[in-house]
Amino acid sequence: MKLKILVGTMTSTADYVAQAIQMDCADLVSDIEVLTMDGLDIQAFDAQPGEDALYLICTSTYGSGDVPDNARALYDSLDTQPKFLGHVRYGVMALGDRTYLQTFCFGGQKFDERLQGLGAQRVGEVWCHDASSGTLAEVEGTVWCREWLVQALAASTA
Ligand SMILES: Cc1cc2nc3c(=O)[nH]c(=O)nc-3n(C[C@H](O)[C@H](O)[C@H](O)COP(=O)(O)O)c2cc1C
Repeated sequence: MKLKILVGTMTSTADYVAQAIQMDCADLVSDIEVLTMDGLDIQAFDAQPGEDALYLICTSTYGSGDVPDNARALYDSLDTQPKFLGHVRYGVMALGDRTYLQTFCFGGQKFDERLQGLGAQRVGEVWCHDASSGTLAEVEGTVWCREWLVQALAASTA
C-alpha cells in the first residue's frame, strides 16, 4: 500500500506530525510520501481505481476556522474543479486549539466535508489534536496513525 500525507500548515506543527509518521510507520507501510499542500490541487488525488493507495490529510486551522494559507488552493479546487473521488480512501488529522471554541479543528473538518461530498471514502474518524492540552501532536498523532493504518490495511485485504 502507498500512503500520501498532504500537509496544511502555517507554523510547521502538521509537518512535524507527518514526518514523525513517515519515520514511525515505515514498518506498516513501505511507501509513505509527505507533501506540503503548497501548489497542489485536486489532481493530488491521483490514485487509479483498484490501486491500493491511501491519503492522509494532516492540517491545522487558522483565521476563524479556516484552512491554512498553503492549503487554500487545494481546498478551493475541491469545489471549483470537482470530480468523483469514489475510489479514494482517506483519513483526517485535524490540528487545532480548543481555546477557539467555535471553530475547533475546522480546517481538517472542512476538508473532510468536501471529500465526502465528492464521494471519497473516509477510513476511521477525524482525529483532532488540541494544542492547548500540552500534549505533543507528533507523539499523539503517531499513536493514532498506527491504529488507523492497521484499520485501513485490514480493510484493503478483506
Ligand atoms: C492566528 C491563529 C488562529 C487560529 N485559529 C484556530 C481556529 O479557528 N480553530 C482551531 O481549532 N485552532 C486555531 N488555531 C490553532 C492552530 O491550528 C494550532 O496551534 C495548530 O497546532 C497549528 O499547527 P501548524 O503549526 O501546523 O500551523 C489558530 C492559531 C493561530 C496562531
